[in-house]
Amino acid sequence: MANKKKILVAYASRTGNTEKLAEAIAEGVNGVEGVSVTIKRARDIKPGDAVSADGYAFGSHSAFEYMAGELKTLFEELYRVRDKMTGKPVLLFATGHGGQVAALESMDRVVGVFNPRWIKPGVAVEAMPDETEKARAVEMGKKLAEAVKK
Ligand SMILES: Cc1cc2nc3c(=O)[nH]c(=O)nc-3n(C[C@H](O)[C@H](O)[C@H](O)COP(=O)(O)O)c2cc1C
Repeated sequence: MANKKKILVAYASRTGNTEKLAEAIAEGVNGVEGVSVTIKRARDIKPGDAVSADGYAFGSHSAFEYMAGELKTLFEELYRVRDKMTGKPVLLFATGHGGQVAALESMDRVVGVFNPRWIKPGVAVEAMPDETEKARAVEMGKKLAEAVKK
């Protein structure tokens, strides 16, 4: 059997809202045959983790209408391996108290430098995701997983 495709879900979360969204996306990925998922906090990710993945979901809470510093630091680390990430599918997600779309847009601008294959729409949620929002995140996780198989 062919090796499974791998998706890395990387996130920054202080109080758990974004973590819940990350878990829902990972659940969606897990529902697709032939694709495995690793879910990690941004600060625990090494460039090698990203290089060996076939697709990504990056998420953050809004911090001053921007992504969390932890995630930006990861992107700065990944810049030197960006050619190994080019063309791979990427889904973005964010939570905030009104600033979730701004956080998502800040990630969009930075990740755009990596020339990804975008999986859109990104998932932007106010505060803790409810059941409907979690279901949407699961669906987007599935869409991401289907994309890495193509
Ligand atoms: C330092 C800090 C700055 C924040 N700045 C914003 C902001 O500019 N806009 C916003 O909508 N929410 C802001 N928030 C609120 C969080 O983004 C929001 O509560 C989010 O859902 C928390 O996600 P988490 O539980 O994954 O940490 C801020 C929170 C912190 C801790």
